[in-house]
Amino acid sequence: MESTQVALVTAAAGAGIGAAVATRLARDGFDVVVTDIHERRAMEFAAKLSAGFGREFRSYALDVTDEDAVSSTLAAVESTHGRLDVLVNNAGWSTIAPVAEMEADVWRKCIDVDLNGTFYTMRHALPIMQRNKSGAIVNISSIAAYETSTEHGAAYSAAKAGVLALTRVAAAENGTHGVRVNAITPGLIYNDFLRKIYPDEFFDGYAENRSLVGRVGRPEDVAGLVAYLVGPDAGYVTGEVYGISGGVHPHG
Ligand SMILES: NC(=O)c1ccc[n+]([C@@H]2O[C@H](COP(=O)([O-])OP(=O)(O)OC[C@H]3O[C@@H](n4cnc5c(N)ncnc54)[C@H](O)[C@@H]3O)[C@@H](O)[C@H]2O)c1
Repeated sequence: MESTQVALVTAAAGAGIGAAVATRLARDGFDVVVTDIHERRAMEFAAKLSAGFGREFRSYALDVTDEDAVSSTLAAVESTHGRLDVLVNNAGWSTIAPVAEMEADVWRKCIDVDLNGTFYTMRHALPIMQRNKSGAIVNISSIAAYETSTEHGAAYSAAKAGVLALTRVAAAENGTHGVRVNAITPGLIYNDFLRKIYPDEFFDGYAENRSLVGRVGRPEDVAGLVAYLVGPDAGYVTGEVYGISGGVHPHG
């Protein structure tokens, strides 16, 4: 009998997309490995999933900027589960400052979490997927990768644009190994934590005046797209970037 497919999600115990993706993949039958920089929240969230779905989900404290920790976590997943079918790179961080005022430490931290962290997890997940000749990776980028906007900050925009290049090249390298790699560029996907990053005016009238569907995005919207991209219907989809923004940021 085929063993249950295993999915690892980074930053899965937060307030937004990561937790929704983990929940959706658990609902779709995956054995979800919950990872987050915040150990207690990761444990609590895995316990919540275990109670909700009536099966055991593991958690690991994982800072994606720590390559040694990424390497040992992926090794632990392979030795425990014997496989890794899906990797969702969700960890993200930003502080908004104009380039002329940005501290180099802020630049480096943003590149480290959003871009280097995505590279580290891919670097250590891909050999497992290649050995199994199967896998799907979804990298959560952002519309910030494309836009001439002051809303996101150059460090975040540069990191998320880098994620798109990383996605495309990794897809080219791994298609014949049975591994697909895609990226998603969400627009505003509301969670309360965003209020700490963006000014109130950013949210005012967004649903009424900017979104084409009269509401802001929800983490579950992105989770549905991730579920498609890692599922059997997306077998011909790789090296692609999917927008999800309620029509606010169309690309094509
Ligand atoms: N929310 C949005 O509007 C939006 C829009 C476009 C892109 N995104 C991207 O989607 C992803 C999820 O964002 P979200 O807002 O839904 O929140 P989220 O709660 O899913 O993810 C944020 C989490 O990242 C974690 N994190 C920060 N640094 C980390 C590190 N070094 N290692 C591991 N985890 C770390 C935090 O603990 C937090 O829990 C991020 O990559 C973000 O850049 C979000």
